[in-house]
Amino acid sequence: MMLCLFSLLLCLLLVPSRQQEGESPNSFTECTDGYEWDPEKQHCKDINECQTIPDACKGEMKCINHYGGYLCLPRSASVISDSQTESAIHDPPPPPPPNTEAQDIQCPAGYQPDSPGLGTCVDVDECVYQLDDCLPSQECVNAPGGFHCKCPDGYRKIGNECVDIDECRYRYCQHRCVNSPGSFTCQCEPGFQLASNNRSCVDVNECSMGAPCQQRCYNTYGTFLCRCNQGYELDRDGYTCNDVDECSYSSYLCQHQCVNEPGRFSCICPEGYQLLGTRLCQDINECETDAHTCSESQNCINFHGGYRCVEKNRCKEPYIQVADNRCMCPSGNPLCRDEPGSVVYRYMSITSDRSVPSDIFQIQATSVYPGAYNTFQIRSGNEQGDFYIRQINNISAMLVLARPVNGPQEFVLDLEMLTSNSLLSYRSSSVLRLTVFVGGYAF
Ligand SMILES: *[C@@H]1O[C@H](CO)[C@@H](O)[C@H](O)[C@H]1NC(C)=O
Ligand SMILES: *[C@@H]1O[C@H](CO)[C@@H](O)[C@H](O)[C@H]1NC(C)=O
Repeated sequence: MMLCLFSLLLCLLLVPSRQQEGESPNSFTECTDGYEWDPEKQHCKDINECQTIPDACKGEMKCINHYGGYLCLPRSASVISDSQTESAIHDPPPPPPPNTEAQDIQCPAGYQPDSPGLGTCVDVDECVYQLDDCLPSQECVNAPGGFHCKCPDGYRKIGNECVDIDECRYRYCQHRCVNSPGSFTCQCEPGFQLASNNRSCVDVNECSMGAPCQQRCYNTYGTFLCRCNQGYELDRDGYTCNDVDECSYSSYLCQHQCVNEPGRFSCICPEGYQLLGTRLCQDINECETDAHTCSESQNCINFHGGYRCVEKNRCKEPYIQVADNRCMCPSGNPLCRDEPGSVVYRYMSITSDRSVPSDIFQIQATSVYPGAYNTFQIRSGNEQGDFYIRQINNISAMLVLARPVNGPQEFVLDLEMLTSNSLLSYRSSSVLRLTVFVGGYAF
């Protein structure tokens, strides 16, 4: 067999050594030609044929031991030492070369005789025995009778070299591609993650992965959105929800007073009122709810924002009580001559800030006599001119609020009805003592 040694630039004859006689059957089968079994190290070790074979090289040739055989070189060949020669042939040392024992059969190149006596040839795996000339960047692939050099996956042969393929040029990745020697990786834009095929990108549901939304999170393609519950608005940071001060938006949200609360607002009413719905205030009728403190001898008078207890019997001399809230001056009593014949107590309540003029109370004669004629006037309690009387006909008149009034305050008006009967020369006076409560508010 001819072997070219690059370091020596000489083609030399590699002489296979003969099978050693008298070796144990075990080592015979274990080691190929040129090796012997080393029971101590439990492997085949090279036989130094230069020592074991007398006169291994003829004539002027010098013997140089070599793995699995030996070399005969001209004495003039510049071989520095045995060990250097060996390393020049192969580094690291190759495993045992093919068994060449069966000399009775000739095998084609790349094949070697099979087990002794069979007379068949088997392929030599040049890659295992490092008989290939593949570059370090290449992979050796054994083939029947030979081998070939192949570039690893991700590399392409250009000339003799294996050059990295830039897979990114072939649009393997949905988003971004990062080339690397022999390979590539796909990367995804923020908000996406690599699918199981390592190439596509799938949306990340940030909401289920701890997105920093303070209240509501909505996943969208590639990102997410924070939203706030009603009554909150999203901060400029996009995550935080800030309470909306609804009360600052409008003064009409509540009839009386708006109170801002986290996420909402509520309306409150002044004392003596209760909420009607969410924003309106309604007077509490303490007289109907038993929230009053009036005694049995008193009447409970409700008005806007409160109530009043008044004595059922309010009649003073010379008046005598004839009914609840009704006093009579007996006509027989001389003290009654210049006094109204009757005084009736009435109570009413109005709100502040009523538009004016405003009809607030209608006076009606209770009994009508034929030929009677009634006139009405405000006898007292209207010193500021807040009220006037508008006569409707001869039995009724309307009390009109003439000027805007604000509470809380109260007026006690004596409304007098003068009845004349020209036929009977009859004239009488009766008074309606009207207490007008003006609440503190416009409701
Ligand atoms: C994707 O990459 C991972 C990690 O490198 C790997 O385990 C997996 O087999 C790859 N999947 C596919 C389909 O290539
Ligand atoms: C007053 O009204 C009554 C009842 O309508 C009527 O009978 C009477 O004549 C009227 N008097 C005058 C003076 O109009």
